Amino acid sequence: STVSLKNAYVKNFYIGTALDTNQILETNPLTTSLIAKEFNSITPENCMKSMFLQPEKDKFDFKMADKYVAFGEKHKMFIHGHTLIWHSQLPSWLSKVKDSVAMSEAMTKHISTIVEKYKGRIGSWDVVNEALNEDGTLRKSVFLNSYGKDFLTHAFKLAAKADPKTDLYYNDYNLCNAKKRKGAVELMKNLQKNGAKIDGVGEQGHWNLITPTLDEIEQTILDFSALGVKVAITELDITVLPNPWDVVGADVSQRAEASEKMNPYPKALPEDIKIQLAARYEAIFKLFIKHQDKISRVTLWGVNDGQSWLNDWPIRGRSNYPLLFDRDFKPKEAYNSVMKLK
Ligand code: XIL
Repeated sequence: STVSLKNAYVKNFYIGTALDTNQILETNPLTTSLIAKEFNSITPENCMKSMFLQPEKDKFDFKMADKYVAFGEKHKMFIHGHTLIWHSQLPSWLSKVKDSVAMSEAMTKHISTIVEKYKGRIGSWDVVNEALNEDGTLRKSVFLNSYGKDFLTHAFKLAAKADPKTDLYYNDYNLCNAKKRKGAVELMKNLQKNGAKIDGVGEQGHWNLITPTLDEIEQTILDFSALGVKVAITELDITVLPNPWDVVGADVSQRAEASEKMNPYPKALPEDIKIQLAARYEAIFKLFIKHQDKISRVTLWGVNDGQSWLNDWPIRGRSNYPLLFDRDFKPKEAYNSVMKLK
């Protein structure tokens, strides 16, 4: 049938999903057919992170990334790259680089090798991911510590040189938080002032049923688009579970993993919350449609509830229901509510 997310939204923006190892290797035919039918854009959930692409200094491993790109080409999808510079999922050699000359060289080698390798085949890259603290200042990382604050400019210039046509994004979470958003706007302006090519901002979109508010989401879209760049929603999922820190605070020892309180819906999502989730997705997509001229892509962080990272984050072994397809690959109420807007 032609009824699908990607067809419904074809005039608005790309509709994407994240592919992890099982989806890339096509271990389940249901996954492959669902991805091909519903989505026209893909993001690598893990395989292009530095610990996988360059596990040892100067030793690159492109096996899984090659399969990822081939999957997108086979299905004629928009292929996104994620992510070149990030403080997390680092190989240990990179986390130990100490001085600015060595870091400059490491960044040059990493970014140039990867972006040149896929030149012309990757539509956009997350060049830098999550460089900001919640208060809008630059986060401590091996990049900031060893290179200094201009590691961002260095990264974007390297990426633009390696593939002048691919779109270059800054990507982060909680950008709806006013302080962090202000920091991101400054970060973007600084890149522009330094003569770096920057084409877009990615707001990850790891949200819940209540926050951020629609007003905050809208203001975020407007603020970034005012910089003259594209806005993408890059990792959308809506958790229905309590945040452990809200329940027991920061004391990890008190956080009984997957206790009843932490995992309130082990078998199925109650009807009233299903309806809340559907309403939340509907309101969010309504807003995206309103600002479709500013939005390049909306990507869900995973294909179905069963394989979402939110079953294991921030604590392991829970049953979460954050996406548009259920554990049997069936469309949920949330899917219907997103479709009925069209
Ligand atoms: C997550 C993946 O979904 C997990 O499989 C992995 O174990 C950790 O990383 N922000 C990002 C993503 O930019 O790369 C993260 O993905 C989720 C948060």
